[in-house]
Amino acid sequence: KAPVPTPHWRPAYHFTPAKNWTNDPNGLIFLNGEFNLYYQHNPFENKWGHMSWGHATSKDLISWKHLPVAIPEVISHDTTTWIYSGSAVLDVKNTSGFGINGKPPLVAVFTADQPNQKKESQFIAYSNDGGLSFKQYAKNPVIDLHMRDFRDPNVFWYEPTKQWVMTVSMVDDHMVRFYGSKNLKDWTKLSDFGPAGYTKNGWECPSLLPLVVDGDQKNIKWVLFVSLGGEHGPLIQYFVGDFDGTTFTSITDKSKVMKVDYGDAFYAAIAWRDAPENKKILLGWLQNGRQETYPWKGQMSIPHDLSLKTTDEGLVLNQLPSVFVTRSLSKYANGKPIEKKNVAVTDKGLKLPTNSNAYWIDAEIDLKNAKKAGLNVVEKPGTDKKVRVGYDIEKQELFVDCTTSEKNNKSPENLLQTAPMNITGGVLKIKVLVDGSSLEVFGNDGEKVISTMIYPDQDATGVSAFADGEAVIKSLKMWGLKGKS
Ligand code: FRU
Repeated sequence: KAPVPTPHWRPAYHFTPAKNWTNDPNGLIFLNGEFNLYYQHNPFENKWGHMSWGHATSKDLISWKHLPVAIPEVISHDTTTWIYSGSAVLDVKNTSGFGINGKPPLVAVFTADQPNQKKESQFIAYSNDGGLSFKQYAKNPVIDLHMRDFRDPNVFWYEPTKQWVMTVSMVDDHMVRFYGSKNLKDWTKLSDFGPAGYTKNGWECPSLLPLVVDGDQKNIKWVLFVSLGGEHGPLIQYFVGDFDGTTFTSITDKSKVMKVDYGDAFYAAIAWRDAPENKKILLGWLQNGRQETYPWKGQMSIPHDLSLKTTDEGLVLNQLPSVFVTRSLSKYANGKPIEKKNVAVTDKGLKLPTNSNAYWIDAEIDLKNAKKAGLNVVEKPGTDKKVRVGYDIEKQELFVDCTTSEKNNKSPENLLQTAPMNITGGVLKIKVLVDGSSLEVFGNDGEKVISTMIYPDQDATGVSAFADGEAVIKSLKMWGLKGKS
């Protein structure tokens, strides 16, 4: 049976391949004025397999140029090598010697998964054409522990010790192993971190990032990210701490599980290397396990700008849609945004006009006289099908409620997704991003994020504000987006 195309679920302002499967983002690097996005890709089918690195570039993180597969799977008579997740660095000093004509090579560091050998080891490949194509290093692997599950190397340059540092996952040991190298070819073990935090499933896609604390460029803490299957689906946990070039020391209580995202979709996120303005921009894969889409499957999240914030709970991660996206947003808007100021919302609701499911809402809602309030999205006309996004005063929770949604693509325990959050002065600040089949909610200027996948019918484009009690929309701006991906 030929698959049914699902154009109404295709995102307008998020990345997805032109066709076929994607999962993790790989090798994110800003190079020559462009954001490069490599991604786990099956170039032949709309399902996981033949793992290769697909490639796309963007100047504004909204509109993407699709490029040929950058690193394809390698098949020989007895070995299949799949190109699993990893990272890419610009080897400015040509430490690897792969550069030609005085031009620094781009070096990709990734896991070679060899199913016939039941083995995963770390490989490198290099590009002398600005990242369009790569040559495999002749002496691969560069790290081989003869293990079946050992993957997802993420590399950065650490100036104080003048060497490359790699984080890589010892999947079943729930550990991140640190390696150092002077030339990207010879690696020595530096240390191990873990087990810690959530350990019930295998650890994947580790990465370490220096982040600015409370907007003070001189105050830097390091954050270690680890992706793993959580209780109810994908989970990314993080640890805040210090890094001395050899060892990462967590100041986050190691028995605590700090979540990057409270939804059931955001996974395998890594950050761009060398992004402008010293930004640390995280991009995740939004998993959509249960629903077929065609001719593509899988998409990326909106890119998140990261920082750390001091709160009652200690130092916590803060995430907002990247300023590179918001600066360009008006270019992709359908006309002027819809604006509301100081309007009361009662239990009768307040309709907002839309005619598509690609939009972006920034709102401030006063809940002093309400128990719950927020926005209904993807309302189906003539029915009460919708997804509710809002805040619950009693429970002190940001929520995405899919119990009344049209498509049941979630397991029962994921129908209601919540994040504990306090609101100051009874006012909820919220950003709601709907794009075809994705829904991302940022609460309190990026304190909490819930990302999930929804699959509304083509005509389910209603949006309204709701309140249990009486809420006031202090301000609301809503952009319809035409985008291009
Ligand atoms: C995470 C992951 C990685 C692996 C890749 C394979 O989603 O399982 O650990 O490298 O996907 O596609």
